[in-house]
Amino acid sequence: MKVFITRNIPDVGPEKLRGTGWHVDQWASDDVIPRATLLERVAGCDAVLSLLTEKVDAEFLNAAGPNLKVVANLAVGFDNFDVPAMTARQVIGTNTPEVLTDTTADLAFSLLMATARMLPQAQKYVHDGKWTTWGPLLFRGQDIHHATLGLIGMGRIGAAMARRGAGFEMKVVYYDAYRREDLEAQYGYEYRGSVEEVLREADFVSLHTPYMPSTHHLINAERLAMMKSTAILINSARGPIVDPTALYNALHAGTIWAAGLDVTSPEPIPLDDPLLTLDNCLIVPHIASASMHTRDAMSALAADNIINVLRGMAPKTPVNRDAVAARGLA
Ligand code: GLV
Repeated sequence: MKVFITRNIPDVGPEKLRGTGWHVDQWASDDVIPRATLLERVAGCDAVLSLLTEKVDAEFLNAAGPNLKVVANLAVGFDNFDVPAMTARQVIGTNTPEVLTDTTADLAFSLLMATARMLPQAQKYVHDGKWTTWGPLLFRGQDIHHATLGLIGMGRIGAAMARRGAGFEMKVVYYDAYRREDLEAQYGYEYRGSVEEVLREADFVSLHTPYMPSTHHLINAERLAMMKSTAILINSARGPIVDPTALYNALHAGTIWAAGLDVTSPEPIPLDDPLLTLDNCLIVPHIASASMHTRDAMSALAADNIINVLRGMAPKTPVNRDAVAARGLA
């Protein structure tokens, strides 16, 4: 069996794969593999351990050839997969759900707290030597406790964010296409029938939807205008869920108060992007699942998914069960 790993990743996964005795090749770099090199290196592979930076589309599948059985993404999101193209070729796709849920919500809540209390601006102020006295008007932010946390998406990560909000005695309101009456009954979260209702009511809006055609620029100028002028937008999902030009205009004009972004559009954000000129926009480089423990767990899970499929068993976390069934592994 031939396996290709598209980047340096925590050792645990590659070690598991090498422990099988299969031929394991790796792009041993912290930089993204050039597309042409990727297409050469996947040729003849049975499995590829990919990152969200690799588009797994018809071109990739053709380059890999008919031996390819599984592509294991080191991410919960898999918008880099062309799932229908994979399923049509009976190529199983897998992702890394569950293991990163709490770590991702921790970062989303960190962005919420940092933007609400203006931590980046305050740190810069200290570093710039501007701290001369205790100031009654200095860095007055927004309260987190008892504020309303609005969640767009109540999947695993949205629910983990809700638990963090509840811990700060926030009121949690949410919109999701799938209503979670169990969570409402258990924790008192309140369902709203539309994205717009959440936007109008929330002090903090946190996005937890997958990226797909229906969520492209879900947060646009019209919807930003519905938010409170004191509201903060948090995006730890995918950059293109937010229209970046509309966000810049809203932050610049004070239509909303601040934004905390783990993801941008495009990624990485170019240094001349106007969002980088704003004090009230905190941007970090797509690090929500980046804890030592969680990245190890993601690496192990991605490797386990490959090992299962190549040993003729169902993967732990497939994204296209049809392909698993077509291979008789379900
Ligand atoms: C990271 O963005 C992931 O989807 O896991």
